[in-house]
Amino acid sequence: MTNLDQDWPEPIVRVQSLSESGCPVIPTRYIKPPTDRPTASAAASDAVNIPIIDVHGFCLDQDDALRDTILRQVSDACRNWGFFQITNHGIRAELLDDIRQGWHDFFQLPVEIKQGYANNPRTYEGYGSRLGVQRGAILDWSDYFFLHYLPPHLKDHNKWPAAPPCLRELIEEYGEEVVKLGGRLLKLLSLNLGLQEGYLRNAFGGEDVGACLRVNYYPKCPQPELTLGLSSHSDPGGLTLLLPDDQVAGLQVRNAHKWITVKPAPHAIIVNVGDQVQVLSNAIYRSVEHRVIVNSNKERVSLAFFYNPKSDIPIEPAKELITEDKPALYSPMTFDEYRLFIRMRGPQGKSQVESLKSPR
Ligand code: OGA
Ligand code: NI
Repeated sequence: MTNLDQDWPEPIVRVQSLSESGCPVIPTRYIKPPTDRPTASAAASDAVNIPIIDVHGFCLDQDDALRDTILRQVSDACRNWGFFQITNHGIRAELLDDIRQGWHDFFQLPVEIKQGYANNPRTYEGYGSRLGVQRGAILDWSDYFFLHYLPPHLKDHNKWPAAPPCLRELIEEYGEEVVKLGGRLLKLLSLNLGLQEGYLRNAFGGEDVGACLRVNYYPKCPQPELTLGLSSHSDPGGLTLLLPDDQVAGLQVRNAHKWITVKPAPHAIIVNVGDQVQVLSNAIYRSVEHRVIVNSNKERVSLAFFYNPKSDIPIEPAKELITEDKPALYSPMTFDEYRLFIRMRGPQGKSQVESLKSPR
């Protein structure tokens, strides 16, 4: 069924090198069909933004008004948006700035050095320029670096960039913080769904959760109106914690058929629900389509940290959320099986999770 055992179907072209060539037109391979182009779609007014939730002073164990307020804000954001930003989340601002800068510097290294980390479709780990292995596919205007942080046996420092200095340590420290934050968020979501606090984390495999980092690099683009930095998709995993670029906007979230451009608050982390939470919550929470637009003036760097279920355990709707009115919408499936789709076909909106609905 898969051709993931092989290499990429075509020679890899680094989008950064296309950008730096100074050519005023983009190759045909990057030109999206008219309906997918950024200018073709209804854009909402600039005043709209995804919810910003200040979690300063939040403590789950402390039964007070603040706790209730924040639980409610997160609940509303999950139901209405599937996306929110959190501020005062406890991760040091300096760490956020340093790791973003570290990755920025990595992408400025000579291409020969980066090629030493070139990835392949078997594991996707390393330096990549496409998602999906379909020959002739229309490609996105971005390069990326993908690495495993958890489980420990998949973590391999030798596959992480050796330069710039300190980047490995920064990834270690950032990973630890984001995993803690992801765990806390899962508790919050579990409670909001009316489940035991530990439900979602246990369903994710408890101590054995998975976590990986995808650093996106969106080079300047001479014809941004014709392409996308990342095509519309929902994230296949559990929860995504995104550190956006602090200088350049680009992430757009679909809400009521409009594309909302996210305006990140300073040092905020953007959180979104992935397909596995949609399955576990029996679609009470839904993963939401998002995409990235590019521009001709500035490159953009973002760090998407994916907090995922252990890859070989079946994920299915929580029994507590199944009723006569609302039977289980999905059959059990492991995340390993699930993620083959995006790894073969690339970003395709929400077609995968929608196709999973069990026949009734
Ligand atoms: C992703 C993603 C958004 C961004 O990597 O899955 O949606 O702003 N990234 O780069
Ligand atoms: Ni995404």
